[in-house]
Amino acid sequence: MENFVYSIPTEIYFGKGQIKNLVNIIKKYGSRVLIVYGGGSIKKIGVYDTIATMFNENNIPYTELSGVEPNPKLTSVKKGVELCRQFNADIVLSVGGGSTIDCGKVIAAGVAYDGDPWDLVINPKKIKEVLPVVSILTLAATGSEMDMMAVISNMDTNDKIGVGNINMRPVASILDPEYTYTVSKYQTAAGTADIMSHIIEAYFSNSKGYMQDRMAEGLLKTCIEFGVKAIEKPDDYEARANLMWTSSWAINGFLALGKPGAWSCHAIEHELSAYYDITHGVGLAMVTPHWMKRVLNDEHLDKFVEFGTNVWGIDSSLDKYEIANKAIEKTREYFISLGIPTTLREVGINEEKFDIMATKSSAKLSNAYCPLSKEDVLNIYKAAL
Ligand code: NZQ
Ligand code: ZN
Repeated sequence: MENFVYSIPTEIYFGKGQIKNLVNIIKKYGSRVLIVYGGGSIKKIGVYDTIATMFNENNIPYTELSGVEPNPKLTSVKKGVELCRQFNADIVLSVGGGSTIDCGKVIAAGVAYDGDPWDLVINPKKIKEVLPVVSILTLAATGSEMDMMAVISNMDTNDKIGVGNINMRPVASILDPEYTYTVSKYQTAAGTADIMSHIIEAYFSNSKGYMQDRMAEGLLKTCIEFGVKAIEKPDDYEARANLMWTSSWAINGFLALGKPGAWSCHAIEHELSAYYDITHGVGLAMVTPHWMKRVLNDEHLDKFVEFGTNVWGIDSSLDKYEIANKAIEKTREYFISLGIPTTLREVGINEEKFDIMATKSSAKLSNAYCPLSKEDVLNIYKAAL
């Protein structure tokens, strides 16, 4: 296990009705609020009205940025920065899924920066001051509620880039599983695939972390158990609660402590959503089994055997390659069982952009678990077609 520093300071208010703490949280970290949200789901589930009532009753001034897109765009970040400045907001409250939270994080970083916020995305060293970010999560997937990352798309250049800064980690997040009852089957499935991918990306590492890996296996089993249950019964509290808490732990930094290295499936998927604006988790479900097939070799075999026996319960007395291949097949079958598209064709993607996407993603993979050339990534896209 390599050296690491452990600090995951986001306050979590988990469970039914935890929104009752919102006013105290806001008063602790700020006074004038920019509320950031998406296309309106928070109005349908009633959380918007709850927040507005609480703020009005407690004389908390607020303004709002609505319409943040899935795969949030730079244009929304710029609007939010302007709004914050005009209103003199000193705290950002993001209410929604990962897109909304990510957008809020970069707005919070952009307010004190005297230039185009895209500069901060491509060069996070330029991030100095960040307004406190509070999140109210309504979709279990990205883990943005407890991590320091944000992923922003610039449609002018077809770039989708992840930016990280410790001060963008939410100071507090409210996680009420009941808010996720209305998440569609499609988004529940995509979210589950995304959570699983975050765990898998940290698990398949060249650095050892026995303890982190046993935790990872438990979290993967939780996704496998409850992803399908939440799809079958959207108001299954236990299923929603377990998915929500797993989404946070998958990527809050814990599983990857002492296990550095680029995340391969994410780099390969981000190009798909940069060019075709597809749902992130769906892209991951398409790419992951093919990435696994590509990286399975003698060097990585034992890791796949651990994955197969500990996560999928495959008989450990079988031949090692048989276990590894069965594990990959079970992963693919699980994604299919979630009911989301599992081939690029199904979401309207053809070979046209494979070359540029493979060039861009392979450039990010020199220190990955298994460094991949442009040719390797091209083959993964072709296999996923
Ligand atoms: O916009 P609204 O109306 O809120 O609808 C959203 C959106 O259409 C809807 N939704 C959210 N909560 C709902 C709901 N619908 C009904 N009921 C609810 N309770 O779901 C749709 C998708 O929302 P979005 O926020 O886009 O999904 P997700 O949470 O999967 O976020 C995806 C984004 O996060 C990035 C992805 O690349 C993508 O841009 N990621 C962020 C990461 C991070 N910050 O660490 C890591 C991830 O790997 C990922 O890359
Ligand atoms: Zn992800």
